[in-house]
Amino acid sequence: MSLDLTFGGRMRIPLIMAPMFLVSSPKMALAGCSRGIMGSFPAHSTRTREDFEAWLKEMDEGIQRLKDQGITPAPYAVNLVVNPTNDRYEGDLELCIKYKVEVILTSKGAPKNVFAQIHDYGGIAFHDVASKRHAEKAIEAGADGIIAVCGGAGGHCGTLNPFALVNEIREITDKPIILSGAMSTGSDILAAQAMGCDYAYMGTRFIACPESLAPEEYRDMLVSVSAKDVVVTAALDGFPAAFLGPSLVNAGIDLEELKYMRPDEKIDAKAMAKRYKGIFLGGEGAGMVKSKQPAVEVCDEIIAQYDDAKENMRAVVV
Ligand SMILES: Cc1cc2nc3c(=O)[nH]c(=O)nc-3n(C[C@H](O)[C@H](O)[C@H](O)COP(=O)(O)O)c2cc1C
Repeated sequence: MSLDLTFGGRMRIPLIMAPMFLVSSPKMALAGCSRGIMGSFPAHSTRTREDFEAWLKEMDEGIQRLKDQGITPAPYAVNLVVNPTNDRYEGDLELCIKYKVEVILTSKGAPKNVFAQIHDYGGIAFHDVASKRHAEKAIEAGADGIIAVCGGAGGHCGTLNPFALVNEIREITDKPIILSGAMSTGSDILAAQAMGCDYAYMGTRFIACPESLAPEEYRDMLVSVSAKDVVVTAALDGFPAAFLGPSLVNAGIDLEELKYMRPDEKIDAKAMAKRYKGIFLGGEGAGMVKSKQPAVEVCDEIIAQYDDAKENMRAVVV
């Protein structure tokens, strides 16, 4: 069965607001949904199963409120870390089943039974990968779409160029591909479609919004930095991740030293524990975040840019 990429016309543009640990919130996700953009958040941003259930309730109530106002909201998605290291995932999945969350964004590991459980209640699963090998495994296990996390993405990022990774994934599947990494504008979404992707995935673009859970200092820093300030390193937790350089400097990390560390070398975890709070993640799209605009304004801007880009392309493409 092929997927209806518009979810019955509820998606105004092919954009998913990416899940961000300790940044995404139900308020921000609902702002996206209200504009026909899929909002999302990670289940692990909540501290307990009860807190997670409260967020799911908030989403259901918010979606109902939008419908009562005559708005057709986009579906929302939940990010689940489907890996044995996450001892909450079975309980969190149970709640997603209970609340019939339409889209699950799975990351880290792709066990077959998880996709089967999601399909059983009518949900769909997009799985997050940074390589062709992981895409193959996810497709074999039954994922409905692949999130291609490429170089430039915020958080635990990919390292591959988007053209290279998308072309390789497209060779092995005709399922939806969701492109992730440094996209900020409506024309970026159209560019992703021109590359053969079905959706764009944007995280960093939304961090500075007032609805995000990011502290003020983080949101201020994001507005002041650009692509060159983003530092990718595995030295903090062993996996390549993109950070806002000034926050690493504030935490006493020498950026020059970081460049020359061995790939398996880590900054002393004990010393870091105290400073982690002020270290902020962010992708190379940071330069496109100019102010702390409300999320609906960001969505409206992106939608207008997307419509303009489509018009402009008509003049360019022969
Ligand atoms: C602050 C931050 C936290 C993130 N946390 C998660 C997470 O919990 N789960 C996940 O699958 N991806 C996470 N990501 C990655 C995003 O979902 C997405 O792939 C990325 O933000 C896209 O790149 P962009 O930031 O350049 O738009 C995070 C990214 C950022 C910036």
